[in-house]
Amino acid sequence: MSELQVPGVAGRRVIVTGAAGALGLAVARCLVAAGARVGAAYRGAAPDLPGGIAAAAFDLDDEAAVASGFARLTAGLGGPAQLLVHCAGGYADAPLPATSLELWRRMLEGNLTAAFLCIRAVLPAMCAAGHGRIVTVGSRGGLAGSAGHAA
Ligand SMILES: NC(=O)c1ccc[n+]([C@@H]2O[C@H](COP(=O)([O-])OP(=O)(O)OC[C@H]3O[C@@H](n4cnc5c(N)ncnc54)[C@H](OP(=O)(O)O)[C@@H]3O)[C@@H](O)[C@H]2O)c1
Repeated sequence: MSELQVPGVAGRRVIVTGAAGALGLAVARCLVAAGARVGAAYRGAAPDLPGGIAAAAFDLDDEAAVASGFARLTAGLGGPAQLLVHCAGGYADAPLPATSLELWRRMLEGNLTAAFLCIRAVLPAMCAAGHGRIVTVGSRGGLAGSAGHAA
């Protein structure tokens, strides 16, 4: 994965969410290898990334935490993100009768609300700069329903 070519990101300020997850860590490593200035948003154990990378741990579905977390990453990067790669998210297997309200809310908050808050955190600076890129990653289950994945 680290040999993947990522053109056009050298020197760019990039925030990667879910940076301690399977996908986010691989994406962050590729971006670092490509010369991007990466800010890693993670939860739990810190991602295994090269020293000197801006990193902040916070919940992406908490409005205040996202505001302060992105502010810390922006400060660490020396400016607002020019690219957001939103890899955080997840899904749980459960048919509808077995889906608790807690699970339902966790799926909505962790996938939809988190994406909304993260995009809102970076969009104004991108609009002001007249340039920016946002990549969101989700499950195929978000596009079409499938049995046993109600939430
Ligand atoms: N891997 C695949 O084959 C695959 C295929 C299709 C789609 N996807 C989608 O790609 C995305 C990432 O998948 P992945 O395999 O990298 O999953 P993963 O290994 O579970 O990583 C997801 C990361 O996001 C973090 N996260 C989730 N909700 C969060 C929140 N509210 N606040 C802060 N951090 C949060 C998780 O932290 P915690 O560990 O603390 O929860 C975890 O570190 C998901 O949306 C998944 O559905 C993955």
